[in-house]
Parts: sequence; structure tokens; C-alpha cells
Amino acid sequence: MRLTTAVLPLAAFASAVQHDGAQIPLEPSTILPSEPLTLDTIPLLGYGTWNLKGDNVSEAVSWAIQTGYRHIDCAAAYGNEDKVGKGISDGLLKTGLKREDLWVTSKLWNDHHGTNAPESAIDTTLKKLGLTYLDLYHMHWPVSQSTFGTNTIEYRDTWAAMGLLLEKGKTRHIGISNFDPEQLKDLLNHTSHPPSVHQMELHAYLPQIDWLKFHEDHGIHVTAYSPLAGTNPTYNYPSDLEPLLKNPVLRKIADKRGCTPAQVALAWGMGRGTSVIPKSQHKEFIDQNFGSLECVLKGKDVEKIDKLGSAKHRFNNPSKGWKVELYKGLEGV
Ligand SMILES: NC(=O)c1ccc[n+]([C@@H]2O[C@H](COP(=O)([O-])OP(=O)(O)OC[C@H]3O[C@@H](n4cnc5c(N)ncnc54)[C@H](OP(=O)(O)O)[C@@H]3O)[C@@H](O)[C@H]2O)c1
Ligand SMILES: *[C@@H]1O[C@H](CO)[C@@H](O)[C@H](O)[C@H]1NC(C)=O
Ligand SMILES: *[C@@H]1O[C@H](CO)[C@@H](O)[C@H](O)[C@H]1NC(C)=O
Repeated sequence: MRLTTAVLPLAAFASAVQHDGAQIPLEPSTILPSEPLTLDTIPLLGYGTWNLKGDNVSEAVSWAIQTGYRHIDCAAAYGNEDKVGKGISDGLLKTGLKREDLWVTSKLWNDHHGTNAPESAIDTTLKKLGLTYLDLYHMHWPVSQSTFGTNTIEYRDTWAAMGLLLEKGKTRHIGISNFDPEQLKDLLNHTSHPPSVHQMELHAYLPQIDWLKFHEDHGIHVTAYSPLAGTNPTYNYPSDLEPLLKNPVLRKIADKRGCTPAQVALAWGMGRGTSVIPKSQHKEFIDQNFGSLECVLKGKDVEKIDKLGSAKHRFNNPSKGWKVELYKGLEGV
């Protein structure tokens, strides 16, 4: 059985930016989760859920679905999958959409690597999210954390176990996150089902052009996390780097094209063929970010934004704390 699962980006529902309940759902797939998947579509604009907390998490997720987002990015490690799940069911109820109209991603945490643990991890995630299957299940990091808290680079056995989750219909695609080139090449050398998607940090300050090209050449879709650069307050901005949304280059383009700087940042990411998954717990930002689907950039805008890439700044790197080497050979390390 061929388990390779290519993913095609889908942005065609841009016209669904409506708040009166008239929604244009995704083309429902006729492929059953238990069948070999050869083709599927990931909406280019998704909604991130890391750091969604407090008493209106479900409301924010539901609002995102009502706004038009059809792709929700979750993870066991975010500690909020039960509330996110309530938001998903509420969003479906309010829009009249069905489960299969959404693309739901989650991620396997480092403490459930190995041969048996991934299945119990996805079962817990599905139960919390209130779903019977995921569209995409990522290995969050190529790192296995032991019960004593020590970390090692391990992904081959875990990946094989994730392949079985595909066969069992618990997820329709499997992917990786935060791998470096050597790890991905090694994985590709040791598996019959390459990852459908690689989720990694990407934004105008960390464009990783060559790394992106490698994925294109291998038919692996890329999802950009932290697409607004270090806007998420858990990150620290170095004093010599202008916050991306305040960057004069971005602001000028935004003014010219009638967009906001955040919309420009997201439109630039989608224009490169990557999906982007901005997170916000505020209705105004959730709406504004969705509007990025209608922010049209010109070639010269893109050239100017590309120049910001010389900053090569990576915000997310737990390497020191975990005592493992990460991102070897990549930008911003
Ligand atoms: N695979 C991985 O290891 C990994 C790592 C990091 C992130 N992710 C995923 O990627 C998602 C996005 O990344 P992220 O959460 O790090 O950062 P982000 O989406 O780039 O930025 C989120 C921050 O920007 C603010 N914001 C959102 N829209 C805005 C706007 N239009 N104008 C001004 N501020 C705005 C949000 O504020 P409010 O929320 O207060 O509105 C929040 O503080 C995560 O939620 C998660 O799903 C995955
Ligand atoms: C959630 O609560 C925060 C804090 O009160 C508020 O600023 C935000 O607008 C709320 N978000 C939603 C989606 O209701
Ligand atoms: C993968 O296999 C190819 C072909 O056998 C080999 O040249 C390459 O060094 C391998 N890469 C890794 C990272 O193992």
C-alpha cells in the first residue's frame, strides 16, 4: 500500500470572508481516512492556537471558524486541546459546516516518542479535540524526552509508529516539525512514506529560501509558524531588530496596498506557497489576519520584503534548555 501523502495548498476560498453566515466550505474529499491518500489540500491560511489561554479560548476558535478559517493548528503541548475542541464544535454548529470541511492539525509531543506511545498520544488528542480523525499529525520535534526529562535526538521509530496511525485512519497525513536538513534526509532514507508537511519557523526575518526549495523539490508542503515573527510575547526581540509589524518597509507597503503590516507579512508567506498559521485571541486581529487573503502584493513589494531576510533571526530555539543540537546548518542558529 502506498502511504505517500502529497498535500496541495488551497487558497481558493478567499471569497469566504463574510460574516453573515454564508460560508463557502472546502471541497469535501471523497477519500476515506482508511484508504491510501494520494492527494489532498491544506488551506493556505490557518489559525494558530499556541498561548491561547484563559476563559475565552473556545470563543476565539469558534470565532476563527465563523470568520472563515478552515485550518486549525493545535498541539498536545499547548495544553488547551479540550477548549480548542469545544471551539471547533461550536464553530461548526454556528456555521453549519461539517467536520470534513475543516483541516485540523495536531502534534505529537516529545514525551510520547517511540514505538507504542504515539498511538496513545493521538488517542488523547482526538478525545480532547472531540474528533475521530486528524487531517495532519506532526512530530513536534525530532527530540525524544525520557521520563527523567533527558532529551535525545530520535525520530525513526516514532515516524514508523506514526505511519501506522495513517493506516488506522486516525490521521489522514503525517508530518514533521523543526527538523534540520541532515535529519530530514536521514528520515527520507529510512521510510517508505515521506512527510506530507514540514512545519517550521518562517517569516520575513527568517526566510530560509534554500531550505524551502529543498521541500519543493521533494514534494513536501511547508507550513510557516510564527509568521508574524517575534510578535508572540513569549519571544524576545533583540534590541537591534525592529519588530516586524513596525518595520518601515512593511508599513510603507501596507499603506500603498491598503493592507495592514500583519496582512502584508501573511500575504508574503502565502505568496511563497507556504501555509501560514497566525494566532490571535482577539476578534479584531482574527478578522484582520483573515483579510490577508485579499491583500495583493506586487513583485516589487516582495523584492523589498525579501531584503529583510538578511536579518536571519530565529526566535524559537530550545536547544540550550533541552541540551540537544537543533537546526544544524540552518539560518539563524
Ligand atoms: N511547530 C512548532 O514548534 C511551533 C512553534 C511556534 C508556533 N507554532 C504554531 O504557529 C502558530 C503561530 O505562531 P505564534 O503563535 O508563535 O506567533 P504569531 O502567530 O506569529 O504571532 C502571534 C502574536 O501576534 C499577535 N497578533 C496576531 N495578529 C496580530 C495583528 N494582526 N496585529 C498585531 N498583533 C497580532 C497575537 O496577539 P493576541 O493573541 O494577543 O491577539 C500574538 O501575541 C502558533 O500559535 C502555533 O499554532 C508551532
Ligand atoms: C478574550 O479575553 C481577552 C481578555 O479579557 C480579551 O481581550 C479578548 O478580546 C477576548 N477574546 C475573545 C475572542 O473574546
Ligand atoms: C541518504 O542516502 C543517499 C543515497 O544512498 C546518501 O548519499 C546520503 O548520504 C544519505 N543521507 C543521509 C543523511 O543519510
